Amino acid sequence: MKNLCLLSFFLMLISCNKNDISTIIDSPDKKIKVIFFLDNGTPYYSIEKEDKLILKKSKLGLILKDNVFLNKNFIINNIQIDSYKNLWKPLLGEYKIIENNYKELKIELKQNKKILFLEFRIFNDGIGFRYTIPNQKNIKNYDIIDEITEFNLSEKDSAFWQPAFSYRRYEFLYANTRIDEISKKKYSELVEDLSFDSIGFDAAQTPLTIKKNNGLFISIHEANLINYSSMTLSPKGKGKLEALLYPWSDGTKVKLNESIISPWRTIQIADSSSDLLNSSLILNLNEDPEKTEDYSWVKPGKYMGVWWEMIGTNESTWWPSEFHGANTNKVKKYLDFASKHNFDGLLVEGWNKGWYPEWCCSGNGIPFNFIDTVDDFDFNEITSYISDKNISIVGHHETGGQIENYENQLEEAFKLYQKMGVKYVKTGYVNDVSKNIKRIEKDGNVFKEWHHGQFMINHFQKVIEIAAKYKISIITHEPIKDTGLRRKFPNFISREGAKGQEFNGFSSNGVNHATDLPFTRLLSGPMDYTPGIFQLNKFRFIAPGTNELDYNAIVPSTIAKELALYVVYYSPMQMAADLPKHYKKHPRAFEFIKKVPVNWESKLILNSKISEYLTIARKDINSENWYIGGITDEKQREFYLKLDFLNPKHEYLAKIYQDTKKTHWKKNPMEYEIKEIEINNESTIPIYLAPGGGFAIEIIKN
Ligand code: NOJ
Ligand code: CA
Repeated sequence: MKNLCLLSFFLMLISCNKNDISTIIDSPDKKIKVIFFLDNGTPYYSIEKEDKLILKKSKLGLILKDNVFLNKNFIINNIQIDSYKNLWKPLLGEYKIIENNYKELKIELKQNKKILFLEFRIFNDGIGFRYTIPNQKNIKNYDIIDEITEFNLSEKDSAFWQPAFSYRRYEFLYANTRIDEISKKKYSELVEDLSFDSIGFDAAQTPLTIKKNNGLFISIHEANLINYSSMTLSPKGKGKLEALLYPWSDGTKVKLNESIISPWRTIQIADSSSDLLNSSLILNLNEDPEKTEDYSWVKPGKYMGVWWEMIGTNESTWWPSEFHGANTNKVKKYLDFASKHNFDGLLVEGWNKGWYPEWCCSGNGIPFNFIDTVDDFDFNEITSYISDKNISIVGHHETGGQIENYENQLEEAFKLYQKMGVKYVKTGYVNDVSKNIKRIEKDGNVFKEWHHGQFMINHFQKVIEIAAKYKISIITHEPIKDTGLRRKFPNFISREGAKGQEFNGFSSNGVNHATDLPFTRLLSGPMDYTPGIFQLNKFRFIAPGTNELDYNAIVPSTIAKELALYVVYYSPMQMAADLPKHYKKHPRAFEFIKKVPVNWESKLILNSKISEYLTIARKDINSENWYIGGITDEKQREFYLKLDFLNPKHEYLAKIYQDTKKTHWKKNPMEYEIKEIEINNESTIPIYLAPGGGFAIEIIKN
């Protein structure tokens, strides 16, 4: 006890009663405070920022199998504080250099002879904490039955959320309601009917963005999700959320043979919606690659694909047919176009055996083959065709969510792709039924698992690690959410994990989704949204082989906004999703896609209002050039952009791609104007964004 009381000089221990100790630790800039305490042996924490309440008294703890309740009857055995500050360089990223600066509080809690460690890191932009249970004699079974982590907000705070435990994983629009209203019922009323999808619980996916009643913005998420189950947030009334982990089919949340290190539970805290986008906290709570691993082969890039003609324009099929997209001749034509315009990759979907018209989405289809090609696709011919071109095939593994079938072929499949010079593989897990991933045990018994439970988290990890053996980077569709693992495993280069552009092909995201994404899904990391559609209406055919257009199909955007997305939505592997024939109609706008970088030195949020508009400026990592992208929801806007962030020593040429006064996402989406003006750091540029539109600027140093 004496030692603990001595610590009060540093920690402001409010009380030194044996079982009732409050410890306050603040962020390096002293603005954020975390208060940790035991109340009758139960661990709690709360958070404040400059006297504004972020979280009220919230419980902590874990319950393990065999009635091991590590959420009560504790005493504090030891407390350690530390601080840490350094700069580090991500291999690829939004920033060339990232500062990692935090104070750390490590608490050893003791319950009889059992030990639980709680570790808090307090940064200037939020906090992270995690549980560690080392191997110990008095714990025999480390399986987690429940995690008792609470996030006790205010009833008046509102959340931007999408439902967890739902059939289409993260591919949902966002609802904006009070925290207590998070439920499938409310979602069905406001956004999309989920009444049929009744298994599972009422909970929200993370990152969960919250606009607090006191004006602050926070995002609750997790970092370093490895060999654990994914966290969702379940409303408990009066603004309280509780961590709810995806369970295994037998109800266990996490299965572990020994010791537990949980992922970090993260709370990013910002004064404004713009500040929220500046946080690198998730990456800071991940680790660098092992010293022995060399990832210098992971390269950022841009790619085109034999893709939109299936999913968007509906001119071709993935499966063998008269209209099969991925045939040798067509792939060569795409390769000619993409390599002429300096793309790094060409995605080829439908190259392998296993596709047929009903392939999607039950999880029960004929399993895919990842080795054998369809008859009209000659992989050897394609490989020699590109031997003198500086472009790689982006391979494709659609698994249909059939994990055993995929894992049985994993090594072979990556070996084949490596032999063919493939540097990137897009994977896919379409299986649009809740809790429907088959897990087949050795005795042949089949169990159905959730897409985001520990079974799948371990599968995604396995794919990344095997792909790395073959020097292949992975772009996952229907993935597990990003928790910053790309820092340690840089070949997990990008992923989908939200409603992306594809939905505008076969359905619609509506005009307001694009401005939700940066404040929600994109807070977790890069997204393979697949921007760059130029033909925004009259693009989709009723069926392959007909000339009949589906006039209802529209991409609710403008060409200028499609360009803006390359700057606004970060991804080190960025697609130009439209067809060559559509790009040929707009060669000058296409120039922007060719020029825009995918790896950056820094970013600045020039303006934003959550889910309504956003303007981001990014500096190229390889030059003195800057790129600006701005997007708006259904409302038109006018901005005056001050360029005072430019280097005062230089003069620049700005190429501005913007909507005209006549552009409109629905009525007239493909009208834009391109202006070139000389600028410097004293310039202010007036900008117009049409309803549902946007703008992009390339700023080139003279
Ligand atoms: C869904 C993916 O998101 C999409 O990009 C892909 O084309 C289809 N699945 C087929 O694999
Ligand atoms: Ca998808």
